[in-house]
Amino acid sequence: MKKTIGRLLAGGKESVYKETLRQLESLLAEDDDLIAGLANTSALLKANFRSFSWVGFYLLGTDGALVVGPFQGKPACARIKPGRGVCGTAAQRNETILVEDVAEFPGHIACDPMSRSEIAIPIRLGGRLAGVLDVDSGNPANFDGMDRFYLEKVAESLGRSLRKT
Ligand code: SME
Repeated sequence: MKKTIGRLLAGGKESVYKETLRQLESLLAEDDDLIAGLANTSALLKANFRSFSWVGFYLLGTDGALVVGPFQGKPACARIKPGRGVCGTAAQRNETILVEDVAEFPGHIACDPMSRSEIAIPIRLGGRLAGVLDVDSGNPANFDGMDRFYLEKVAESLGRSLRKT
């Protein structure tokens, strides 16, 4: 199983997501440490999807702000105030936000000027919001309902497997 991770997966988007979920379950079975699990998840998604330019986590701090956690991609904004940007909106509403064109999203935070579309998915641990999974792409309208479906499955899997710290 490990040997296939990082090798570009063949097939359409759905089959890549299905294989990615299988790989994720095997990675998460190794250890329930939060940072280890989030780090490996961002690495796995970035390795398997060429269209993802940035994949990572923003974690909810005690003051309600989001602080950048494990990620793959260019350096990003360290802290996002509550309700700000795509990530802050996803956290505040506790729901997935899919943005086909970041230029059209009021308050979008441009960490990477090449980013054209984005999706942010809430992460819940023990039933409570712990942060968001954020994925950016340099392609316009890169994300659709299939991405939402499978990235929410990734988030559910993290919620089942990882320990709160
Ligand atoms: N664009 C995000 C900020 C985080 S970066 O994309 C990595 C936002 O508007 O919340």
